Amino acid sequence: MSTPGGIESTLQELRSFPPSPEFTAQAVIRTQAEFDQLYQQSINEPETFWRNQASNLTWIKPFSRVLDWSNPPFARWFTGGELNISSNCLDRHVAAGNGHKTALLWEGEPGDRLAISYADLHAQVCRLAGALAAAGIRTGDRVAIYMPMIPEAVVAMLACARLGLVHTVVFGGFSAESLADRMNDAKAVAVITADGGYRRGKIVELKKNVDAALAKAPSVRHCIVVKRTGQPVDMKAGRDTWYSDFIDSFSGDAPCPALQSEHPLFILYTSGTTGKPKGVVHSTAGYLLGAMLTCKYIFDLKNEDIYWCTADIGWVTGHSYMVYGPLACGATVVMYEGAPNHPDFGRFWEIIERYKVTVFYTAPTAIRAFVKWGDEYPNQHNLKSLRLLGTVGEPINPEAWTWYHRVIGGGRCPIVDTWWQTETGSIMCSPMPGITAATPGSCAIPFFGIDLAVVDRQGNELPPNTGGYLVIRKPWPSMLRGVYGDDERFRQQYWRDIPPFYFTGDGARRDEKGFFWVMGRVDDVVNVAGHRLGTMEVESALVAHASVAEAAVVGRPDELKGQALCAFVTLKAGRTPDEKLKDELKAWVTREIGAIARPDELRFTESLPKTRSGKIMRRLLRDIAAGKESVGDTSTLEDYSVLASLRADQE
Ligand code: PRX
Repeated sequence: MSTPGGIESTLQELRSFPPSPEFTAQAVIRTQAEFDQLYQQSINEPETFWRNQASNLTWIKPFSRVLDWSNPPFARWFTGGELNISSNCLDRHVAAGNGHKTALLWEGEPGDRLAISYADLHAQVCRLAGALAAAGIRTGDRVAIYMPMIPEAVVAMLACARLGLVHTVVFGGFSAESLADRMNDAKAVAVITADGGYRRGKIVELKKNVDAALAKAPSVRHCIVVKRTGQPVDMKAGRDTWYSDFIDSFSGDAPCPALQSEHPLFILYTSGTTGKPKGVVHSTAGYLLGAMLTCKYIFDLKNEDIYWCTADIGWVTGHSYMVYGPLACGATVVMYEGAPNHPDFGRFWEIIERYKVTVFYTAPTAIRAFVKWGDEYPNQHNLKSLRLLGTVGEPINPEAWTWYHRVIGGGRCPIVDTWWQTETGSIMCSPMPGITAATPGSCAIPFFGIDLAVVDRQGNELPPNTGGYLVIRKPWPSMLRGVYGDDERFRQQYWRDIPPFYFTGDGARRDEKGFFWVMGRVDDVVNVAGHRLGTMEVESALVAHASVAEAAVVGRPDELKGQALCAFVTLKAGRTPDEKLKDELKAWVTREIGAIARPDELRFTESLPKTRSGKIMRRLLRDIAAGKESVGDTSTLEDYSVLASLRADQE
């Protein structure tokens, strides 16, 4: 962990954008007093606050205790209670007479469309759950989901949740290698996948990757394959089944078991500061409550909303804000399979116009791409249905914010800049759309019950506008329950740096109004296009190549992606540092991890700058990667050892 002094915010944004009186008049929270009263209660009397809020869930057996924090950092929320997530997302809406209501408005990249009602979705989930149970997959077993953005992906998640199977969704852009690693770590017994998916007009051959991964993942006994793209795939007898055959004989109506509040719902792998992604574990009741309440208060979600979150289900945003949160609220969710620029740059705006989307949630990296593509694309479409906009994943620069506000929101939609993490399960900090005058670049104020603070290394709260470490000082319901199979890593990664607080890994400041400004990671993690990548992970992939002796990977600022990856590579003796090898190494990383980890820039160097104790001087490399040093032609071999010896004492 480096000092936050190295991350200085250059943002001096002082403009403020209050919500319109029309928005406020219909908002869930309409006055500051109403918010303050609830927030104070959530911090001063958390048990009362959370007990009241938990009544938003449908319980099979009421809980006896709100929070058990007797064994930190292992929290237990709503103990004694029993519920079923799939029933909270589906059955209760059907039972309330809303079965006819559209749950999913799905659009495939080639243009195929489906509207699926809550009753239909319920039936599909029951059929798959029945088939999974009949296949002998039992409560607590892990199931991998490696799918394109098709309705069956949502069905698969909810069917697992219904039975208490722990799903681990692996982003479809990850390689066979990454999929195998995750399935092995989770000891998955089954994988649900598709033959392929569409991306920018091409077929992504998912089943082919699954076949390669399964050769290395002996725990997986069942492979269930949705037919999406139709190209020939290998089906291994006894292991592989077509999804339609698998569910064929199962009924669309089945009761659901009662699961304990703390039953694990899913594992989601995310990058950290070591070479191996960690399996973040989330629970049932606390997670669902966090996802649902933030939808209600931050997205101001109402019964009549048409809500679209553009995240892939492979990321936590897709879990909390495409599936669990909005479905628990009974909203209508838009789901789109493909790329924003297929067949042209207007695809997203066409979708918003077609479905009359009211709430739209996307990432700053996408917004920066929209800005680049030009106003003419959104301007060709009627976006008047929109009433609220959101962003997530990385700090948003004020230019992108104001463009989003003006061109997409027509100047009338509040923007919620939501800060959170895979580990937090739900949004921790955001403007309250009906009352907060938002400032571009700031994620504003903590959500109910979230004791967020900027502190020094000793945990002392810092004065306004002083950069420090972002921590959460009290447990919250949707917090991660651990790192799968590795309690020690859980303690060490999050709780040891600034005890007894949860350390987020981010640097931040709080301004004089109490608004938070997140500056970025202070550890060896970078946010590339809104996706978190551990530089160590990419380094491990590079050094696994036969030609590489040593590698160091750092982030550098990138106009579009926020940060881009720059790799410094030292070769083994006798290897030629040419363009061919550069391309080969980039392709190697794509194969090992996935295209998102492919270095944007790769430089060969005879040695890496190190401190006397042998630690790679990442700060120096970051400067070089950001162009702060005169390094000449980037394609040539460089030797940083001289620079290194000059600066050896800096780190
Ligand atoms: O650095 C912060 C950044 O994304 C990290 C979490 O990444 P991940 O677990 O992949 O989850 C992304 C989606 C929740 C954080 O530690 N981050 C996320 N949202 C924001 C942000 N940085 C600034 N502003 C945000 N709104």
